[in-house]
Amino acid sequence: MMFTRVISRHPWGFFQRNILQQAHQTKRLKATGIEKPPTYDEALSILKTFMMKGPGAERTTELYDVTASKYDQYVEVVRARTHSELAKAVSAVLGNNFQAKIIDVCAGSGLSGLWIHRAGYRNIDGIDVSQGMLDVAREKGVYGDLICQRLGDLPLPFDDRTYDMASMGAAYGENHMPMEALPHIIRVVKPGGYIVNVFREEALRSSIYGEGLDPYMKQLEAEGLWKEERRELFNYLIHDVVGIVLVHKVL
Ligand SMILES: C[S@@+](CC[C@H](N)C(=O)[O-])C[C@H]1O[C@@H](n2cnc3c(N)ncnc32)[C@H](O)[C@@H]1O
Repeated sequence: MMFTRVISRHPWGFFQRNILQQAHQTKRLKATGIEKPPTYDEALSILKTFMMKGPGAERTTELYDVTASKYDQYVEVVRARTHSELAKAVSAVLGNNFQAKIIDVCAGSGLSGLWIHRAGYRNIDGIDVSQGMLDVAREKGVYGDLICQRLGDLPLPFDDRTYDMASMGAAYGENHMPMEALPHIIRVVKPGGYIVNVFREEALRSSIYGEGLDPYMKQLEAEGLWKEERRELFNYLIHDVVGIVLVHKVL
């Protein structure tokens, strides 16, 4: 069903390219001893399920917990661009300040941290609500502290002005980080520091954000908490999903 839907929405050339990518991917994963990687459609379907309206935050956390050991495979099979775009945006802000203190918000299985680390940054902590995902993140060896906490109304367990940057990869969307967490994140970033965010553009209109994420972010700007410095769209965050890069400077 999903397969038919995906084919019918896309021109053959596009789909053919994906088949070739999958073939290459399967070969590479087999070489590492993983017998049966998820198919493109399976991976896409699971990644889309996380952000579908319905299950709510707690059931989605359970879903992350039980699929954590396969999460990186899903992302790799669909060639998600979240992490490369996030690392590029972080580099564009931090330049050669490789010791900058970064909190990776909604760190998940650590792919955002891994790409930021590959870009040269060495001082990264992470926070996420799924212990299963954090266990996978820990194995990557790129984080200092990794904290398990659901972000929302409660403050983050860090002092004010601790970090030079908060990075956020795919943190917004249905069942994900509520917008009320933003002032708490801003509090732990130093004035003059940055919040770099890469996510699905459609998340701006997710039902959990009521009137919308944008009006709320603009309200925080009007309150003098931060200032938007960059907003850019890109294609193929995954499959047919448009991505957005947002960079805010903390005031
Ligand atoms: C789509 S994954 C992205 C993970 C990682 N940043 C990446 O780019 O691969 C979203 C992550 O956000 C976490 N998450 C969702 N809502 C959260 C909340 N309210 N507080 C903390 N973590 C949350 C989930 O547990 C999941 O690991």
